[in-house]
Amino acid sequence: MRSILVLNGPNLNLLGTREPGIYGATTLADIETRLRERAGERAELAFGQSNHEGELVTWIQEAGCDGIGVILNAGAYTHTSIALRDAISGSGATVIEVHVSNVHARESFRHRSLIAPVCRGVIAGFGPLSYELALEALLAG
Ligand code: DQA
Repeated sequence: MRSILVLNGPNLNLLGTREPGIYGATTLADIETRLRERAGERAELAFGQSNHEGELVTWIQEAGCDGIGVILNAGAYTHTSIALRDAISGSGATVIEVHVSNVHARESFRHRSLIAPVCRGVIAGFGPLSYELALEALLAG
């Protein structure tokens, strides 16, 4: 069975109550339940959320060393973090970048992703389904 790590960055612990007009009413716990249901026997999932850049760096490094695929919503660090980018490229982790919202339809500072060039692909704008699509992409690859 494949092992997949689902990582969420800063402020994503607030999903469900945070700007619901943009991010909807689904919580991170709901997303975890949906992913576990969808994965079924196909993958063993682990989950992590942190508001701290360094903790995300460490988890990505570990996933890369262990050959574990990563579904990553890096939140605002997507747009700022050279450290996350280096963790992905340096560890060789297979990472799919996801976003709940369509970042390209929002403020211009959200249009640039520092991590996208070192990710396997990017899925944005489908709400909680973004995570499920990333799961399917990892399992297909
Ligand atoms: C987000 C988009 C980011 O621009 C933002 O900083 C977030 C959430 C999303 O899932 O739509 O925290 O990654």
